[in-house]
Amino acid sequence: MAKKKKIRFKESIGLDIGSHSVKLVHLKKLHEGFKLLNYEIRSTVPEGYEYTPSDLSPDRFAPVLSGMLRSLKINPKKIKHIVSSVGGDNTSLKQIKTIFLPEDELESALFFEAKKHLPISGSEMLLDYQVLSVEEKTNNMNILMAATTKALLNEHSDILTAAGVTPGIVDVESLAVANSFALNTFVEEGVFIILNIGALKTNMVIYGPEAKFFARDIAWGGYHFTKDIMKQRKLSFENAEKFKFEHGLKEEEETESTKKRMSLNITEKTTEEQIAMEVKRSLRFYVKEAGTSDFRKILLFGGSAKIIGLPEYLSKQLNIESEVYNPFVDLEMPEKFKDRKDPQLALALGLAMRPE
Ligand SMILES: Nc1ncnc2c1ncn2[C@@H]1O[C@H](COP(=O)(O)OP(=O)(O)OP(=O)(O)O)[C@@H](O)[C@H]1O
Ligand SMILES: [Mg+2]
Repeated sequence: MAKKKKIRFKESIGLDIGSHSVKLVHLKKLHEGFKLLNYEIRSTVPEGYEYTPSDLSPDRFAPVLSGMLRSLKINPKKIKHIVSSVGGDNTSLKQIKTIFLPEDELESALFFEAKKHLPISGSEMLLDYQVLSVEEKTNNMNILMAATTKALLNEHSDILTAAGVTPGIVDVESLAVANSFALNTFVEEGVFIILNIGALKTNMVIYGPEAKFFARDIAWGGYHFTKDIMKQRKLSFENAEKFKFEHGLKEEEETESTKKRMSLNITEKTTEEQIAMEVKRSLRFYVKEAGTSDFRKILLFGGSAKIIGLPEYLSKQLNIESEVYNPFVDLEMPEKFKDRKDPQLALALGLAMRPE
């Protein structure tokens, strides 16, 4: 986890390049803390196109990013601290325990451990780790291990370079999610569940200052909510997306015919049910592994955290208080952004606040 180290940079940029939208946060470092200079969320889906991930070209990211930099009047060459992240299938983040090992042995032990989680050849793997603690009694080491592939990192660097940005620090997404919370919110104890609900996936992170770290991706997100609405209400993608923004999970007064239509696929689980089920499964596993169930809150990050009724639904299903996370709590906000809050920016903000 990023510690609150002394920070040397004057300005920073956090870049969260998601499959649906690019999120950029531009900060100024103050004597104490940060000031928000600017931000933007821009969809990478061309106007009039349906967001069908497999149909969209990876070439779409760089022009969106360079367009954002232009409209925000940012010259990326002038900013020394630009932090971004990579996520998805070819990344893995695990807290593991090993017997005490010297550094050279540790690296090869972790390498084998990481290979269990990433089905790739060894020469393709990039490994990073942090020793979280060494247990006094047993001398065992608790290690946070992050792994990704060279191909994924290259693809990411190519996007940045094509947009005129020199790649800087690149974090694994779920670690960045945890950092965003840890750098913004002071908590002394307890365990927090963070769900970064994007378009295609949800990063689930379990974090507490004294707790075992856990991260996994759940293969459900905003795209699947829209697909549910398309099916249930026989709407086009565009109209279903609009319906989702306006009504979310709120049940409307149903007419008889829509009731019938909705009951047709009663065996199929909805996206919110799938997410709740996966979270429940992970929590059961976590309680066994970590020996604690001191869950304080579920915090929702990401664009799909804004789905009306979702926090209430999760609170009820999981019996843990859930709320939409407001990332702009510990930050100086200029007048034009006063009272602005947007969970979709949580990750980009955490990236921008990350120490060097
Ligand atoms: N106000 C809103 N209400 C409901 N859904 C919203 C709202 N704003 C954005 N979304 C949804 O949020 C999703 C985009 O969120 P986000 O930017 O976090 O995803 P992403 O990072 O691009 O995706 P991923 O992390 O899965 O690659 C889309 O599915 C979009 O429909
Ligand atoms: Mg995302």
